[in-house]
Amino acid sequence: MKLLVTGGAGFIGSAVVRLAVERGLDVVNLDALTYAACLDNVASVADRPEYAFEHADIRDRAAIDRVLETHRPDAIMHLAAESHVDRSIDGPGAFIETNVTGTYNMLEAARSYWTASGRPETFRFHHVSTDEVFGSLGPTGAFTEDTPYDPRSPYSASKAASDHLVRAWGETYGLPIVLSNCSNNYGPFHFPEKLIPVIILNALAGKPLPIYGDGSHVRDWLFVEDHADALLCVLERGRTGRSYNIGGENERSNLELVRTLCEILDAKRPRAEGSYADLITFVTDRPGHDARYAIDPSRIAGELGWRPSVTVEEGLERTVQWYLDNEDWWRALQGREGVGTRLGQAR
Ligand SMILES: NC(=O)c1ccc[n+]([C@@H]2O[C@H](COP(=O)([O-])OP(=O)(O)OC[C@H]3O[C@@H](n4cnc5c(N)ncnc54)[C@H](O)[C@@H]3O)[C@@H](O)[C@H]2O)c1
Repeated sequence: MKLLVTGGAGFIGSAVVRLAVERGLDVVNLDALTYAACLDNVASVADRPEYAFEHADIRDRAAIDRVLETHRPDAIMHLAAESHVDRSIDGPGAFIETNVTGTYNMLEAARSYWTASGRPETFRFHHVSTDEVFGSLGPTGAFTEDTPYDPRSPYSASKAASDHLVRAWGETYGLPIVLSNCSNNYGPFHFPEKLIPVIILNALAGKPLPIYGDGSHVRDWLFVEDHADALLCVLERGRTGRSYNIGGENERSNLELVRTLCEILDAKRPRAEGSYADLITFVTDRPGHDARYAIDPSRIAGELGWRPSVTVEEGLERTVQWYLDNEDWWRALQGREGVGTRLGQAR
């Protein structure tokens, strides 16, 4: 199978590219190489004959047509997106252009390519989305695939809009689509503006560890390599037209999560005095900060037999070790625009 992955130079896309090549798929990685991209993320497979890279922007319909015509993939997995909630608060326009209009371009290009190829039933357009489209939960319950959409940030609203477009192209034009909505990912190659790398890297630099609000916000954490495995499972075995919620059933408040990271760092690279937890600092909350996300993964577990393989304890330990071992990777990204500064406070 030849798979076109969009956003394959980003955090999750690169995990998909590495895993798919390892499993013997031909992979074309289409990426615009925005601030969030890093081709080092796919260096381990870049020289493999199964791998090709296309520098293209999904806001450019002609560029997508050219990539499809050149490579003639059997399936598309669409991950390219603006992904940082804080950046969506400061500059929502880029999120509408890439996440909404870009997804529209991908759908139209895919429809035209699929139609010209004789509408093969085996074709797949897999749209990768987030649990944030469902909004914010109270202290109990979990998102199912039937939970009504209730996005509350420009990022989640743009992803919700893209999900609606994908379903509409499936219903209206018969394009064989499948969707997945996943909880928060973590792991190697996580861009240094997101919570877990920020905490690890600030700790190593002896800087304050910023926690938004009172740290009570709960997220459901999934190791990125488990997400990549789930995505290939949905792509290959998910039912056309259906969506699958993906999660690790690993709820942690942000404060608990940061304390765990501090304990791992205390064991691996002790400070001269005290614990890294002494650096924890509470800062002004993000406007509209969702209180809790949790995923009910019964459908993907029951229908497709998928389960995560990495516990959150093991995943966090592996992640901290990866950042300790890969200083060149993260140092090169710390100079990128906006990294290391507080974003997303606008009201
Ligand atoms: N990170 C998470 O926890 C999480 C959870 C659930 C779902 N998702 C979804 O998974 C996908 C990937 O997320 P991520 O965290 O890897 O994001 P990321 O920001 O690390 O990577 C996004 C990639 O898309 C590329 N890109 C951005 N705009 C583009 C454009 N106009 N044309 C082509 N390429 C473009 C970037 O260059 C980058 O390589 C996104 O669709 C996101 O909404 C993320």
